[in-house]
Amino acid sequence: MRVYDLIYKKRQGEALTREEIKFLIDGYTAGDIPDYQLSAWAMAVFFQGMNEEEIADLTMAMVESGDMLDLSPIKGVKVDKHSSGGVGDTTTLVLAPLVSAAGVPVAKLSGRGLGHTGGTIDKLEAIPGFRTDLALNEFIENVNEVGVAVAGQTADLTPADKKLYSLRDVTATVDSIPLIASSIMSKKIAGGADGIVLDVKTGDGAFMEELEEAEKLARTMVEIGKRLERKTIALITDMSQPLGYAIGNALEVREAIQTLQGNGPADLTELSLQLGANMLLIAGRVGDFQEGYNLLEGLLQSGAALEQLGRLIQAQGGEAAVIEDERRLPQARYNVPVLAGEEGYLAAIKTKELGLLSVEIGAGRARKEDAIDPAVGFVLEKKVGDRVQPGDTLLVIHANNGDLEGIKERARKAFLITAEKPVLTPLIHKIIN
Ligand code: URA
Ligand code: CA
Repeated sequence: MRVYDLIYKKRQGEALTREEIKFLIDGYTAGDIPDYQLSAWAMAVFFQGMNEEEIADLTMAMVESGDMLDLSPIKGVKVDKHSSGGVGDTTTLVLAPLVSAAGVPVAKLSGRGLGHTGGTIDKLEAIPGFRTDLALNEFIENVNEVGVAVAGQTADLTPADKKLYSLRDVTATVDSIPLIASSIMSKKIAGGADGIVLDVKTGDGAFMEELEEAEKLARTMVEIGKRLERKTIALITDMSQPLGYAIGNALEVREAIQTLQGNGPADLTELSLQLGANMLLIAGRVGDFQEGYNLLEGLLQSGAALEQLGRLIQAQGGEAAVIEDERRLPQARYNVPVLAGEEGYLAAIKTKELGLLSVEIGAGRARKEDAIDPAVGFVLEKKVGDRVQPGDTLLVIHANNGDLEGIKERARKAFLITAEKPVLTPLIHKIIN
């Protein structure tokens, strides 16, 4: 096989065979195929697309490029959840203890923040002492003993995706649905998932801003799941405003605790129940969605899910007392309110801008090697549709640096206030299975 011929074939819009795709991915991972040739192929894919069989073959070729977690020592159906990324998306912190409190094992690998979006691993590390770098045997032991573990990737999973993702990042080929879908699904499958619940975000704060594109991505991933025999459900959910009120690592841990106490924001609570009920359904724990939803609601009310968070924190070396005393979480020195100047309704929030601003004040990283400040971030006091009076607090900036004039001004401009009451966007646009 010649790489040139495969690039040419894709450029002409033909489908590649499984062997041809594997040849490209294996050769690239091993360093035998240079970046410039794989870049040309990725650009051909960007323009010509791939059919469903090719996308499934690409997914498996990336899975096979590295290790696959063997979760067979964990009894039961292992269901993973993946969010395509958002601002203030605190869901995993709520879901992991909640679903495991229902008796379904949760063996979750999570990532760090990316661009304007936060990551679960950074959030958990805001809990004093919490370790996310579990070795595989410890990870599995914790799931068996506690019912849940959440860790960063240590094994050499999907090295092809790591390499290809970096290449796409610098060759304008990230936003290709076949490439995104195979990238996400390969990581879930290599992580040992039997079933997958996908939370595909849409709106200003998401990577796929347009609903139509998000739906295409969701359908593509569900189709990959079907072909590779992993039960997959995708929810297309709203990211046109931040989820819940908190954005920032310790602030989101606090919000997750409040949600597990049954006092969380309505949107975060509802999304957690919806995603969780689908996880229980795929795991075979319940017969239908409503049964799962009711079961999880009961676990929030009874405090069982919050206790499970305490066990998860304890098992990973963290200070479990944070669930009773939020003041044990890192606190920022300054709390600076951003006030509304006019009267009306909050009509829209520039969510991506707030995500970027949160990175600027230290809640995320500008460069890979940067340290983050777990204490800082934003807490909204208004959400889209709320009435606003002049002088009302729109959001509070939690910062460790007092020089915030520029940030305050940009944060204020992220809120659009209108005289007319806006039409609200649904939290869940569509469910695809
Ligand atoms: N997230 C991923 O994991 N991969 C992509 O290609 C895009 C977003
Ligand atoms: Ca939040």
